[in-house]
Amino acid sequence: MNQTIPPTPKIISVGNRQISRIISGQATADGAGVRLRRYIGSAELDHIDPFLLLDFFESDNPDDYIAGFPSHPHRGFETVTYLLAGKVRHEDSAGHGGIIESGGIQWMTAGRGIIHSEMPEQEQGRLAGFQLWVNLPATDKMCPPAYHEYPASQIPTEIRDNGATLQVITGTTSTRTIGPVRGVTTDPIYLDVALPADSTLTEPMPKGHTAFIFVIDGELNLPDDENTPVWLSAKQLGTLSDGTAVCVRAGDTGARFLLVAARPLNEPIARYGPFVMNTPHEIEQAITDYNAGRF
Ligand code: FE2
Repeated sequence: MNQTIPPTPKIISVGNRQISRIISGQATADGAGVRLRRYIGSAELDHIDPFLLLDFFESDNPDDYIAGFPSHPHRGFETVTYLLAGKVRHEDSAGHGGIIESGGIQWMTAGRGIIHSEMPEQEQGRLAGFQLWVNLPATDKMCPPAYHEYPASQIPTEIRDNGATLQVITGTTSTRTIGPVRGVTTDPIYLDVALPADSTLTEPMPKGHTAFIFVIDGELNLPDDENTPVWLSAKQLGTLSDGTAVCVRAGDTGARFLLVAARPLNEPIARYGPFVMNTPHEIEQAITDYNAGRF
């Protein structure tokens, strides 16, 4: 008798998000010549609503960063700077200034317009970190500029039984650690997580939120859209499918990674350099306003 063996059913953890794309980033330079890798906002990945851009910079060679980002404008979105090493001085047209240091976050709402500079506050040593651009809805694009700025000492660290540590910049974890950046329109989550070797992290994730993981060090294992386990390596970004939780496992050297999510806006995007609006007309208006000194 010819017996047909049924295929082994795939074990799918209901609700868990999967890797939908792996992005390795593109080497580029921005500002006055800062060398960086661009993961979002490139030909490889234009945007993942509401995230418009993600740059990662890391170098101990001053030639790669010393030129910095001299005076430049923004309108219509938020810039989020998170430093892993080094110091960056910022000053802006609203009279605000300060220094972001290692482990510090600056969540700047450019709104209707700001002109600022972001310059390394060091002539040697390692400078590393991220800049993320988060879009604003049409109703908020012309709001007054605003800041959330916190040094590392004001970012809570949650330590789990398995040794996992979570720096909670924004959002609320499953054990109710709340990040200091609050009141952002897109309800973001921004976690810097360190996992010991072969340990796991499971966190709920609001359904519908766009989410991605960026591996800083080590390797992370999670399923792809066929539910096959895949490895996400250091300096790779993985975009995640929709779902209600994220479950990842670190490799045998552990892993440090960003887990970032926010509610998509589902609005048209008109984009020109540092201006991100809804229509081409609004971009023309931004250029006119900037040239007329109205920022
Ligand atoms: Fe900027």
